[in-house]
Amino acid sequence: MLEIHVVRKDNRHLYERYFDPYFRLRHDIYVKQRKWMDLDRPDGREIDQFDTEDAVYLFCLDNGQLIGAMRALPTLLPTLMSDIFPYLNIRGEIRRPDVYELSRIFVIPERRGEHAGPRVEMLLLTAIMEYGISIGLTGFTIVLEAWWLPRFERCGWKAHPLGLPQPIDGMSVLAVLVDCDEATWKSLYSQIGLTKPTLTWRGLAGITRQALPEISTLAPPSVQPTR
Ligand code: COA
Repeated sequence: MLEIHVVRKDNRHLYERYFDPYFRLRHDIYVKQRKWMDLDRPDGREIDQFDTEDAVYLFCLDNGQLIGAMRALPTLLPTLMSDIFPYLNIRGEIRRPDVYELSRIFVIPERRGEHAGPRVEMLLLTAIMEYGISIGLTGFTIVLEAWWLPRFERCGWKAHPLGLPQPIDGMSVLAVLVDCDEATWKSLYSQIGLTKPTLTWRGLAGITRQALPEISTLAPPSVQPTR
């Protein structure tokens, strides 16, 4: 059974056993497969300076196996955009409590491009929107390769460029600010036909959360599913 878990400093102790496989998967995917060699580390674990206790992770688990993930960083603290790629954002630095930066979204190779049921990647995009509206975020910054843009467009994510695309390691890369709002979450929800919220908040009862819209009031799909 697919579950997407919120993992933050408050409940990290409950997920400690997943972190070693998680960082090893990141190394396999980003260093060995994507050849992002700047991220290479001799211990075979891809961990960077942003994997601090303030990072929030979404772990997608299928019967206890980690099959996908995403990372969110508060923009009040250092981010990839502020510290590594500031030149991609020509609209002025974004440091706001209601905006987080997303990075390291991945799905393990065996679970990509699935057609039976919602794709794991779509579930992650829905789940992070749900996380954002639950804790009162209004946007996500992302440094991304330009091929994401039509994918976002198709699934209803509204991405606003913060600068012009630049070539980096043979890819066209840009910075965007994505709206985090109920309308996007509802649209994603309808597209993938969910009947209940996506997120598991184990050990996070102390976190103040805003109520999500009633699932039964969600409109039928207004956007065509991706693939
Ligand atoms: N370059 C260009 N396009 C890419 C791409 C890449 N590195 N990776 C995915 N795409 C696009 C392509 O259009 C692809 O269609 P294709 O199969 O016809 O080439 C489409 O996305 C579907 O990708 P796929 O990987 O089959 O399935 P998915 O939608 O289930 O998963 C990702 C998408 C990005 C989650 C998955 O490819 C992944 O985990 N990639 C490795 C991690 C990564 O690069 N993350 C992004 C940066 S953080």
